Amino acid sequence: MSERKDDKLWGGRFDRGPDRVFDEFQRSFSFDCRLLPYELAVNRAWTRALEGAGILTAAEVEQVHNALDRIDDQIQTNPDWVAKSDAEDLHHFTEKALVEELGPLGWKVHTGRSRNELVATDFRLYVMESSAAMQRRAAALAGALADQAQAQFGVPMAGMTHMQHAQPILLSHFLLAHAEAFTRDLARLRHAAESADACVMGSGALSGCSFAIDRQAIARELGFSRITANSLDAVSDRDFALDYLFALGGIATHLSRLAEDSVLFASQEFAYAILPDEYATGSSLMPQKKNPDAWELIRGKTGRITAALFALFTTLKGLPTSYQRDLQEDKEPLFAAHDQVAAMTEIAAGAIRATRFNEERLRAAAANPALLATEVADYLVHKGVPFRQAHDLVGKVLREAERRGISWTALPLEELQKISPAFAADFSKGLNVEAALAAKNVPGGTSPEAVRAAIIELQNRLSKRGASA
Ligand code: ARG
Repeated sequence: MSERKDDKLWGGRFDRGPDRVFDEFQRSFSFDCRLLPYELAVNRAWTRALEGAGILTAAEVEQVHNALDRIDDQIQTNPDWVAKSDAEDLHHFTEKALVEELGPLGWKVHTGRSRNELVATDFRLYVMESSAAMQRRAAALAGALADQAQAQFGVPMAGMTHMQHAQPILLSHFLLAHAEAFTRDLARLRHAAESADACVMGSGALSGCSFAIDRQAIARELGFSRITANSLDAVSDRDFALDYLFALGGIATHLSRLAEDSVLFASQEFAYAILPDEYATGSSLMPQKKNPDAWELIRGKTGRITAALFALFTTLKGLPTSYQRDLQEDKEPLFAAHDQVAAMTEIAAGAIRATRFNEERLRAAAANPALLATEVADYLVHKGVPFRQAHDLVGKVLREAERRGISWTALPLEELQKISPAFAADFSKGLNVEAALAAKNVPGGTSPEAVRAAIIELQNRLSKRGASA
């Protein structure tokens, strides 16, 4: 013990210490301290395994576990201890703390293991826990949209494609469309958690472990359902982090699209939605302004979430087999992406719940007769006209109305019959927004009946998920 010059985890074969700038450059404690709770848990499981392998006695394991409890306590109660530490990384921090508590026994804890496997195991536990928390957030967001769909039930709006008025839909149907996207994110998040769910401990630096540790027992104790299959792969596999970043990128992209719709709907041109004060800001110059900054920032931040995915892809590309220090670059973008998406989901759910809709404007837009043009074609189809021909005939109707400078709904029946004899007295009877909505009565369609069923079905899906989470 006396030959140890300092408390570093390495250095025996070095004559000189590291360059000051390089030393700063290679440190990771400022960000990997976030993994400390997992590192402590892994230390508990590892010392138990060392007992099984005959390296530590039961009494020593108990001493280590008690020391880990005290360290945990101190981390909770004295955040300065972590903030002011000069540790190189979280593994160094933990070993120093154990040695301070236990003396030389603290040095035994690292027997047979490597920081390469520790960091991979900690990071996997972090992704599993973060994915579970993010699933709750994504579900809450889908729930907020489903609740609004229920509250706004019956309000029609002008459905658009290419940002052009297309066909009437229910506002609830529109809100459920966004909710549906977030339910797909739930599946991606679950997949990320599953891909993280394998314990690396026992892989060593790259080749495995020469002590008789029980890998399955370590995995079980830490809450993993399986162990990794190949030590060389396990110390450098970061696919679980890619999967989590992909899931976060999906949420952010869906949020960005919801944000875009929300910004448009709050504009004076649409005036479909009234921005809640709590999620808007004012202008320092123009007193009348109420800006949709919450949605704009959500849309804007999406860039860095997807960038985080590509940052990690780029780091991984071309890495030789086994652990390389480049892998230290995996954590900061993922932590930042997680934090941003956590805030984005919470703010979006709050803004959705607080948004009021301008029913009058929505109804007025839905009442545009042009939205019923397809219904006219469908009417002719019911009269036996082949659809392509019916489409063409409706075009002629619209052109004639345009030529006269009137709405096609104002064209007298005789005029319509000049275009096609299939037009009959029952023509205008069923031609209105309500009938057009009711006609779309397939599962997944916008008829009130289908939308009512969809709201219930989605709420059931979300509450079942809540029960299983
Ligand atoms: N800070 C490192 C990382 O995040 C931990 C493993 C370091 N291993 C090493 N051999 N230097 O990947």
